[in-house]
Amino acid sequence: MYKNLVELFEENEGKGAVGAFNLHCFEMLPSMIHAAEELQVPIIIQTSLGTAEYIGFEPLIAAVKALAEGSSISVCLHMDHCKSVEALKKAIDLGYSSVMYDGSSLPMEENIKNTKEVVAYARAHHVSVEGEIGAIGGAEEGVVVAQNEAAYTKPEDALYYVDQTDVDALAVAIGTTHGQYKSKAKINYELLDELKAKLGSVGLVLHGGTGVSDEDMKRCVREGMKKINVGTELNKSYIEEVNASFPGATPLTSLRKLFTPANEHIKRIILEKASLFKL
Ligand code: 13P
Repeated sequence: MYKNLVELFEENEGKGAVGAFNLHCFEMLPSMIHAAEELQVPIIIQTSLGTAEYIGFEPLIAAVKALAEGSSISVCLHMDHCKSVEALKKAIDLGYSSVMYDGSSLPMEENIKNTKEVVAYARAHHVSVEGEIGAIGGAEEGVVVAQNEAAYTKPEDALYYVDQTDVDALAVAIGTTHGQYKSKAKINYELLDELKAKLGSVGLVLHGGTGVSDEDMKRCVREGMKKINVGTELNKSYIEEVNASFPGATPLTSLRKLFTPANEHIKRIILEKASLFKL
């Protein structure tokens, strides 16, 4: 079934966090959904605006909906880290079931104003909204937040932002970094406890999942994270697999056969990660 983020949170209540995996190209999509189906867990397929434009909004949305309707699990299509209100309205009009407005680099009141506009539009279309407070460091599709500009989420800011905007989910900066594939993050659990205590029912979101150790993943799930994002690990593994399969190809080798090992690897990664997200 094709659903929004709130519906996935409700369905997964008491069962752990829902995995949100970044789609980087069309080819990896079926493996992602098949992995979640094998585990019988809901899945969030998330894209950057760049990936949506690369594949095309309509074919992407149609494919995710078709795979979702043909599966026995719930699937949400989420726009990740989008800084443009207009682009989010387009994604909502065309059929994304969830969106993230990222105004974290703006002054608080401007972030709130824009987030409210997105929430009002999204609610009218049965679409859920994630916002961000604080600044998660690292590189995401060429958008870099330098470590010295990254800032832990302040609980009082987060409370004010959630009260004002009524977002369904909130990305919090608690020590993780986007694109951290060479080392592991040091998570500030005291801050996570404080955020959880203050924010009540809003779904907390852990970004930068590639740089989180398996132990920390499990602890974050136990401590109440509702959505966990993993992107770079899928991209990195796909590149490694196609680098291994392409050099031996001739003009008569079907491209299909060259992509298959990479797609199978994507499935294995999602099986591993999504297993960690279960309570
Ligand atoms: P990684 O690419 O570091 O796994 O982070 C993904 C993410 O948080 C997407 O918003």
